[in-house]
Amino acid sequence: MSNPDKLIIFDTTLRDGEQSPGASMTRDEKVRIAKALEKMRVDVIEAGFPIASPGDFEAVQAVARAIRESTVCGLARTLDKDIDRAAEALREASAFRIHTFIATSPIHMREKLRMRPEEVIERAVAAVKRARRYTDDVEFSPEDAGRSEPDFLCRILEAVIDAGAGTLNIPDTVGYAVPDQFGALIRDLIERIPNSDKAVFSVHCHNDLGLASANALAAVMNGARQVECTINGLGERAGNSALEEVVMAVRTRRDLFPCDTCLDTTQIMNCSRLVAGITGFPVQPNKAIVGANAFAHESGIHQDGVLKSRETYEIMRAQDVGWSANRMVLGKHSGRNAFRARLKELGIAFESEEELNAAFARFKELADKKHEIFDEDLQALVTETNLAAEYERVKLVSLRVCSETGETPQARVVLSVDGEERSGSAAGSGPVDATYRAIEAIVDSGAELQLYSVNNITSGTDAQGEVTVRLAKGGRMVNGQGADTDIVIASAKAYINGYNKIVQVSGKAHPQQGEV
Ligand code: KIV
Ligand code: ZN
Repeated sequence: MSNPDKLIIFDTTLRDGEQSPGASMTRDEKVRIAKALEKMRVDVIEAGFPIASPGDFEAVQAVARAIRESTVCGLARTLDKDIDRAAEALREASAFRIHTFIATSPIHMREKLRMRPEEVIERAVAAVKRARRYTDDVEFSPEDAGRSEPDFLCRILEAVIDAGAGTLNIPDTVGYAVPDQFGALIRDLIERIPNSDKAVFSVHCHNDLGLASANALAAVMNGARQVECTINGLGERAGNSALEEVVMAVRTRRDLFPCDTCLDTTQIMNCSRLVAGITGFPVQPNKAIVGANAFAHESGIHQDGVLKSRETYEIMRAQDVGWSANRMVLGKHSGRNAFRARLKELGIAFESEEELNAAFARFKELADKKHEIFDEDLQALVTETNLAAEYERVKLVSLRVCSETGETPQARVVLSVDGEERSGSAAGSGPVDATYRAIEAIVDSGAELQLYSVNNITSGTDAQGEVTVRLAKGGRMVNGQGADTDIVIASAKAYINGYNKIVQVSGKAHPQQGEV
């Protein structure tokens, strides 16, 4: 059925990744991430769950319109209305897939679905048949397969293959599996299901025990030829298998794995930074492949070894995953062409000359404050330019903060709210607290600040600080980001970005809860 040498990469950053608390993305942000994934040559992009909300539907539709090289996928429960809505959202894609799922573990069937196993099989078969009316490319997932009975999995999977499912995805929904056992399950299913040769076996692992990538790789060793994963391992609770880990493990250990992906791995860092910037989920420094320390050697013995021969301590080349060898890129005297050329090398293209001009103007402002502009600065700057290009009700006009030993910090903020300038002042326990109180004095959002964090984008005291805030209101949660060489200004930008998102994001259904 499939090419046994090829490992299909199914990226679900825009769907399962977006289920990370606070990681909601706007339609335009999803399109930007999808384009970066397409440039990396991801095979399938799961763009969302179209029935969840009008916003999700529009985002899937926008991704379907924008992407030409990758297959675009939409998630649907085994309900007719879900499948019809997914098909409608995906209609304009050059190639699309409908991914339908229903739970198969005893606990889910009994407690959540309140359905008998026979009814679950009937529903799955009917859903696959309905999806096949719209496309030949149908994927079926038995949710919580990791805790389902293998005999029942064999029955339902055989039935959905007969109904027309070409991809069978085995999710370890709750992250319960361990590698040997999960690999054996995949092998067992492939061996026991009589028509298994008519489908591609896929896996979707969660990271509750920190084993998501290991489990996915064990499945690949045992016959799986699609892995569902996310950039930076984003996803529900502890996340999913990280795309960069799975792809680089298979590529680096070609001696062990019987297959490889078609990905352009030099795009990994670009995707990682983009997703971290948009979601506001920073990457931990010691994260494999994409963490700031992933290729840094601290110990003298290691440094000495690497200088003599890189392979003494490095199993991959930093350039192969997109860390550029020469990271000092531009400065105050760099012109528009150099700016455009460097962005192109980073895989960043602008839709219009106006967007390029806006980004270049921000670059010049930044270069006045900071002499050396690194790739990371450029990424943050482009994220900010794109945020500004989207509809923003509130914009920062100016900020003045007084902070002095022995005195209470004071802030005065001027905001443009729907085009009208308004100012507010407040005192606070620190300059950031005073600034946030001054912003609230104007917008009165009623949102709760749940998280505030600052990271330096590059090193040095002139580095830009990147601030992430998480705001919650009425059961909704969003992350806001802002970057500046002045961290109080970065903090104000992040808060305003979060505010603009929380007034936009509408409530949406969660695929694994509610109606079945
Ligand atoms: O974790 C899970 O089971 C899922 C399914 C919808 C594939 O995300
Ligand atoms: Zn999942």
